[in-house]
Order: sequence, then structure tokens, then C-alpha cells
Amino acid sequence: MNKNSLLSMKDLSAQDINDILNDALLFDDRYHDWQLPVKKALIANLFFEASTRTHYSFVSAEKQLGCMSVDIATELSSIIKGETLYDTIRMLESAEYDAVVIRHTQPAYWKQLEGVGIPVINGGDGANDHPTQCLLDLMTMKQEFGAIEGLNVLICGDILHSRVASSNKAALELLGADVSFAGPEMWKREGFRHVDFDEAIPEADVVMMLRIQRERGASTGEMSGNEYLQTYGLTKERAARMKKGAIIMHPAPFNRNVEIDGDLVECERSRIYKQMHNGVAVRKAVIKRAFGFKPFEV
Ligand code: CP
Repeated sequence: MNKNSLLSMKDLSAQDINDILNDALLFDDRYHDWQLPVKKALIANLFFEASTRTHYSFVSAEKQLGCMSVDIATELSSIIKGETLYDTIRMLESAEYDAVVIRHTQPAYWKQLEGVGIPVINGGDGANDHPTQCLLDLMTMKQEFGAIEGLNVLICGDILHSRVASSNKAALELLGADVSFAGPEMWKREGFRHVDFDEAIPEADVVMMLRIQRERGASTGEMSGNEYLQTYGLTKERAARMKKGAIIMHPAPFNRNVEIDGDLVECERSRIYKQMHNGVAVRKAVIKRAFGFKPFEV
């Protein structure tokens, strides 16, 4: 596998994460016009699962960096005829693509890609990992609080099926944050420190809400959206118990009035659209790294 691939947060050291975040912050702040100083790079985006944020912020980052960006229509690719993912990516490499971004339903799909020479950037794999989402979450926290170490981060909702939960657990713990999880008993995850949501809210610097991942089989049975909101979601009453300076985050897409009161999505504490904005700078930093460029020196 190309050493500049980004597959899992678990592969990154604290230094790697900080280098990517610093580049992303510089892209956002000063280097809006920076372009890859190489021949026009050709990047293929392969999304085997629905996506708006990840897919189209990668396209935005690729085009702003001067890359040629190609969306592969995965439902029309020869995978339908039985071609393997490995053979598909080797074909793109043979056709002079320089990198691929892949979102896939299968956890750790990249294990099939040993032998591929071009960088692979993971856009999310099943309930396993979502490195660029995690990096933009970290960037948002760093902008807000200056550092990740010592932050109290409370992640609530469908923990069991969430790749965002697992990526953030790995990275936040590595960087010295205190991370805990809350939500329905049926979605507890082994190895995750679960707490009572109502007790934990007043202590949290960050309250991150997660969507119910129905596409991965999660169900609330007979419970209505409003019942879920009142029992497990971020209501206005719960938000009012957050401490001064604490922020609300959500990887989105969100379901208004299910895991979060619709009026909180754009409230003063919310950084949800800021997260989406940061997705472009993070993906620029990840693409720059994929092509072997060192972190910016400032
Ligand atoms: N947060 C996130 O991954 O959103 P998309 O599924 O729209 O890419």
C-alpha cells in the first residue's frame, strides 16, 4: 500500500494528526490559493455508499488544489460484472489516475488493496473508520479551544454503528482528551466508556450527537422520533444545561427533531456547519499529504 494513503485514524501518530491539522488550519486561514505544484493530478472518487459532505467536499478540495477530479459511477462500473475492488483500482492506476478516494460499506475494505501503488484515501468504511470526518472534528475543536488535550468530549447516539464514534475515540484518546459515550443500551459498544447522558452534559466541553444509522440495521422499533428525542436526544432543555463555552457538534447528515432539536442545529453553541466548512481544508491537507508533500513550514 502506498505509504501516503490515509486508511484509519489508528495508523496515525499524534505528530501525524497535528501535521494534518496545522496544514488544514493554514489552508483555511492563509493558503486559499495554494495548488499542488505537480502536473495536473487525476483523482478518482469512488462512493459505494451515499454521501453529500464527504464526496462533494473532496471534489471541492480537489478542484481548488488544481486536480482533475473524476466521480466514478460505481453502480455503472464493472464491479457489477464481478470485477473485484482490487482489480478496479489497479485498472484506474493503469489508466494513469494518481490517487483514489473510496467510501465503502465493508469495514477495512483496503485490506483487499495490497499491491495497489497509488495513494488510497478512506472516505469511510462501514462502522469502522472515517478519518477525514474525525480530522475535521478535531480541527473544529482545536479552533474553538486551542488544544485537544484535557477536553471533555461526550458523544451520544447510535455508537454501535458509527464509524465517527470509533475514529474519534481513537484520536481523542491519543491526543489526551477525556472521551465518553451515551445513548440507548442496545447501541453500547465494547471497549467504549459509557456514561449517563443527563449526568455528563454539564461537564462536557463538546457534546457530539450522532444519527441513527438505519442503513446499518439500527432501529428504534415502535419509538417515534419525538420519543427518541425526549429520551436520548439533545433537547433545548438538555442544551440549556451545557456549561458556558461548550459547543454542539454533529458529523451530519442530521435528522432534525430525532437526535437533535431542529432549533439547535444553527444555535449559537452549534458548530455543525463550521464542521462542514472545515471538511474542505482537511481534505486539501490530506490530498497534499497523499502526494508526498511535507507539512507547511511557518
Ligand atoms: N458526515 C458525513 O460523512 O456525511 P456524508 O455521509 O454526507 O458524507
